[in-house]
Amino acid sequence: MAKLVPVDVFDLIIFGGTGDLAMRKLLPALYHRDRDGQFSGDSRIVAVGRSAFSHNDYLAEVEKSLRDNLGNGEFESAHWGNFRERIHYVEADALAHEQWGALNELLNGKEDRIRVAYLATAPSLFGPIAKGLDQNGLITDNSRIVLEKPLGRDLASASEINNQVGECFAENQIYRIDHYLGKETVQNLLALRFANSLFEPLWRRGAVDHVQITVAEELGVGGRIEFYDRVGALRDMVQNHLLQLVCLTAMEAPSSLHHDAVRDEKIKVLRALRPIDAEAVRSNTVRGQYGAGAIKGATVPGYDDELGGAQSSTETFVALKLEIDNWRWSNVPFYLRTGKRLKDKHSEIVVEFQDVPHSIFPEQKFDVMPNRLTIRLQPDEGVKLSLMAKEPGPGGFDLRPVSLDLSFEETFGLRYPDAYERLLMEVLRGNPALFMRRDEVDAAWQWVDSIIEGWEQSRQKVETYVAGSWGPTASSVLLDRDDRAWYPDS
Ligand code: BG6
Repeated sequence: MAKLVPVDVFDLIIFGGTGDLAMRKLLPALYHRDRDGQFSGDSRIVAVGRSAFSHNDYLAEVEKSLRDNLGNGEFESAHWGNFRERIHYVEADALAHEQWGALNELLNGKEDRIRVAYLATAPSLFGPIAKGLDQNGLITDNSRIVLEKPLGRDLASASEINNQVGECFAENQIYRIDHYLGKETVQNLLALRFANSLFEPLWRRGAVDHVQITVAEELGVGGRIEFYDRVGALRDMVQNHLLQLVCLTAMEAPSSLHHDAVRDEKIKVLRALRPIDAEAVRSNTVRGQYGAGAIKGATVPGYDDELGGAQSSTETFVALKLEIDNWRWSNVPFYLRTGKRLKDKHSEIVVEFQDVPHSIFPEQKFDVMPNRLTIRLQPDEGVKLSLMAKEPGPGGFDLRPVSLDLSFEETFGLRYPDAYERLLMEVLRGNPALFMRRDEVDAAWQWVDSIIEGWEQSRQKVETYVAGSWGPTASSVLLDRDDRAWYPDS
């Protein structure tokens, strides 16, 4: 386990403290960090919500959620006894700043500690909450604000939110979360690329045939359908998580791990993405929506059924062919796909290298396959290198694909921390490297906006796919047209 660096005493204020994100992700992450001894002194977690909970009611909710969301055996009554002491609940309406008396009272006199406002709320509240903190005099030199995604629904709305928050907080106090950047394997991509010299000479056109990025989920939209129906997979997943994975895969080596050095390189990739305009959307993008089907034997309803029979054109699946116009990646396509209610929960980056220029092994049972480097983000985080090898035996010369397969969990023998554990600690330490800078968010929206416009202009329809499949047929056709196929083949 990497060394635990304790964080200085803090007050972490979670707006949206009764919401799904706070209960399922933030509080379990904080519980883990506290249990490992990373919190100092009487650091506090202040949950703000509109529900009329008493302090004890709220603690009961948190306890239930920890029991439900922590892994097997991770909830320890003895530690809960300590952790609960850190939690305070404040009933307040984020929009009625004059009613923030209880919050003021709790924070007054604690100006010397690190103060983090975590906005786990709808993005429309980001500006008003920042203003409320300002008007109540709650922003100190040690303050930071964390903004959850989605940050707006296009460049214009994201700019408006950024401007509103920017009136109250300096850019270096603003932490825009993309939780994929907190995933261990995503950070491992940096280690793999820049702590090993093996890959660098091959990490480019001429050696790489193409790159595939898949983020597949088994889950449907569930209780978030009202929100999701206004958003769709392109805004929910591609604009942030998948583009961040593209950046980390495609960027040049930064001069250091300094946050601006890393983010300067990422933004160059975003700016080099070839726009997918109205003409290109038909050939380079696929939109799908799940119909009824079965996942691992269990029947599941279609998206429209979940919407109560209403017809919706929101996509729950997107596949894209993306080109990066720079020297390293010229003519090396990146294929991206993400969707809900797919066959498996599985996320990976596959770098496929070029074919051997000439095969000296005729008449093989198995064709000579191009080498592939697969970086598995979840489940079973790890790296796999697919190679061709000779089958053992004295007769003939038969080849077979084999792989060098490394599972990080097995290798390090550790529980893999959730992304939020890492990200929350980085905010408390004041290190923004794993967060998105404003210009990054803007560049990502600018690229995504042109696809949204293209879809609108070309009236591109959503194609229904059966829940439990790998998405619409058009997604396979996207690669098939280029003589390629998704891994796993689908
Ligand atoms: C969130 C999206 O950002 O990421 C969700 O809003 C999605 O729709 C989730 O389910 C996926 O995250 P993970 O960590 O489970 O891959």
